[in-house]
Amino acid sequence: MENSAIMADQSIQELESRSLARVASAGSPEELEAVRVEALGRKGALAQISKEMGKLAPEERARIGKLLNSAKQKLEEALESKKRHFAEAALRARLDAEWIDLTLPAPGPRRGHLHPITRIQRELEDLFVSLGFTVLDGPEVETEYHNFDALNIPADHPARDAQDTFWLDGGNLLRTHTSPVQVRGMERLGPPLRMIAPGRTFRNESVDASHEHTFYQLEGMMIDRDVSVGHLIYFMKTMLTGVFQREVTVRLRPGFFPFVEPGFELDIQCLICGGAGCPVCKQSGWVEQLGCGLVHPNVLRMSGIDPEEWNGFAFGLGLTRLAMMRYGIDDIRHLQGGDLRFLEQF
Ligand code: DAH
Repeated sequence: MENSAIMADQSIQELESRSLARVASAGSPEELEAVRVEALGRKGALAQISKEMGKLAPEERARIGKLLNSAKQKLEEALESKKRHFAEAALRARLDAEWIDLTLPAPGPRRGHLHPITRIQRELEDLFVSLGFTVLDGPEVETEYHNFDALNIPADHPARDAQDTFWLDGGNLLRTHTSPVQVRGMERLGPPLRMIAPGRTFRNESVDASHEHTFYQLEGMMIDRDVSVGHLIYFMKTMLTGVFQREVTVRLRPGFFPFVEPGFELDIQCLICGGAGCPVCKQSGWVEQLGCGLVHPNVLRMSGIDPEEWNGFAFGLGLTRLAMMRYGIDDIRHLQGGDLRFLEQF
């Protein structure tokens, strides 16, 4: 045997066993690829040896060629099987990580909850229904007659200035209060009558921390024989105790509303400081809660009710303000700002 043939023999065997050992110990597909390039690549060790083969005698060339082919084949097989091994391990790891329990119930849509104003509104509806009141709904687009005239506020009355309105084409308007539903209730149902009317109201206001152009009120009216301010106070105290879930102290001050006589502003003793004075009650110890009074005879008469036979009380409560007081919200704009991070707290 020629010398160079012996050397080729040896280096093929060495290369084969070294490369197989490296394949066996490779820890990653990258290492495997490095082995492949070094041994089998175009410029790799085996290619180098086969280049040298031209120098050999023909019979040696055939023998070395076979050796070379067999080394190449063994290496390719080893690489292939190790590669498969890595792929399977990667798949197993992924399946383990992505495992889900298909028998678990689906999470379903995210659950919401009622808006704080809606919640107070529903509580008040339940409370008044339990006291024999009917819950009425009225239109948000109102006639001028129902919003003003029928409530004893004629066209030239200065009280109209206090409720700046969004007028619509054709003389209708966005209601500035829920009081027009009193009128609709009297017209439809007649006396005796116990009704409340919660709903959305609108005023042409500049928006700030305590004013919104769109807000919520709850109107109430009771018409019967011999209704007194005593009845009014009883229902108001029952309502406010229900909302705040504790005994509240109320006081009446004279207040002017054209549709009641006498008319009152009802204040509650501040629930934050208990009456001592704080920023919420502006140091006065009292917080204005609602307007109320005994229904003006003109209002009854205009809706076809005889004021000699019937009388009643009415009240209008700011639901938005009530929600702010109950939950300690200091800026009205949060309530309809649409930010769920705020609303989800309630
Ligand atoms: N409608 C009045 C307002 O929005 C509130 C009000 C006051 C309603 C006295 C009444 C009432 O029913 O008797 O300012």
